[in-house]
Amino acid sequence: MQQIRERAREVMQGKCRVCPVCDGRACVGEVPGMGSLGTGASFHNNLRSLANHRLVMRCIHDVVDPDTRVTLLGRALQLPVLAAPMSGVSFNMGGLVTEQEYLSALLEGCVARGILGCTGDGAPELLTEAAFGVLHRLAGAAIPFIKPWESEELVVKLHSAIEHGARIVGIDVDAVGLVTLRKMGHPVAPRPAAAFKELIEQTPAKFILKGIMTVDQARLAVDVGAGAIVVSNHGGRVLDHVPGAAEVLPAIADAVGGVIAILADGGVRSGEDVLKMLALGADAVMIGRPFAVAALGGGREGVEHYINKIYTELKAAMVLTGTRAVTNVTGDILC
Ligand SMILES: Cc1cc2nc3c(=O)[nH]c(=O)nc-3n(C[C@H](O)[C@H](O)[C@H](O)COP(=O)(O)O)c2cc1C
Repeated sequence: MQQIRERAREVMQGKCRVCPVCDGRACVGEVPGMGSLGTGASFHNNLRSLANHRLVMRCIHDVVDPDTRVTLLGRALQLPVLAAPMSGVSFNMGGLVTEQEYLSALLEGCVARGILGCTGDGAPELLTEAAFGVLHRLAGAAIPFIKPWESEELVVKLHSAIEHGARIVGIDVDAVGLVTLRKMGHPVAPRPAAAFKELIEQTPAKFILKGIMTVDQARLAVDVGAGAIVVSNHGGRVLDHVPGAAEVLPAIADAVGGVIAILADGGVRSGEDVLKMLALGADAVMIGRPFAVAALGGGREGVEHYINKIYTELKAAMVLTGTRAVTNVTGDILC
């Protein structure tokens, strides 16, 4: 991982410093870039809310080989981790490789290790074209997230994603505040629940709504027919002064857990963090920035290395907390 990180530091040309801990301190206010909006409070709150929880060690038991496998929306995953959607190599990540090269490395690495990666969306159009190209080549083994475009572009892109093989699609509903997209002639906008219901009913794929941070919005996601939600503040990139995902996750899981699949992201940096998110009520987690570092610094193999690291840490944390399976993690491993 050390070599991968050093190479990523060169490739990302200052857009990401590849800090020892990716905590958003060095990149406050750097959007575009790999950082966060405004004061960076939302990014910071993601890490702080996870750090506020500690794991309880229990070592007298018979859990020798814990089970990390999970099924999410019909897809079997070797561990409950997905690579979060991240787009824009040219303006966020240094621009030394193409969007297609980056996405190929990211998604192929995920497939090789038996997990799913996601693609993002945005303007210019080449971001979506690159995402759909790789999705097609991988026979749909990735989840495309489409922006909440104000126009018909939304429906067109969702259906195009499905034609390229996607069986699960998502919308990052929290992208509605990205005013730069409006300036670029591609406005995004919020929609009422009824509009989402109609859209989901007309989309022949499982549907994820990303950017849910309250119990009432999670209940609406259930009502409109989503198959899963992502509890996420978009890595602190859309609104300053928002709580961390791990802070709001337990109440959301209490309200809709078991009814809808719950993913969570923001500040997950280790297998221990994955286990904490599961104990707080997530069925699986997404990891963002560290996956970009792994893909740009080590290509497909870098991504595989990174997944192996998370897997090893998760497995060790499960043994040391006496957790038999990721599908049955309870809050009593936290204090
Ligand atoms: C450079 C960059 C680009 C991103 N692009 C998207 C995107 O296109 N769609 C989306 O849903 N989320 C996007 N995100 C947010 C991530 O999917 C994820 O929610 C966030 O990075 C998780 O936090 P973490 O990086 O601390 O793990 C982006 C994040 C970054 C850092």
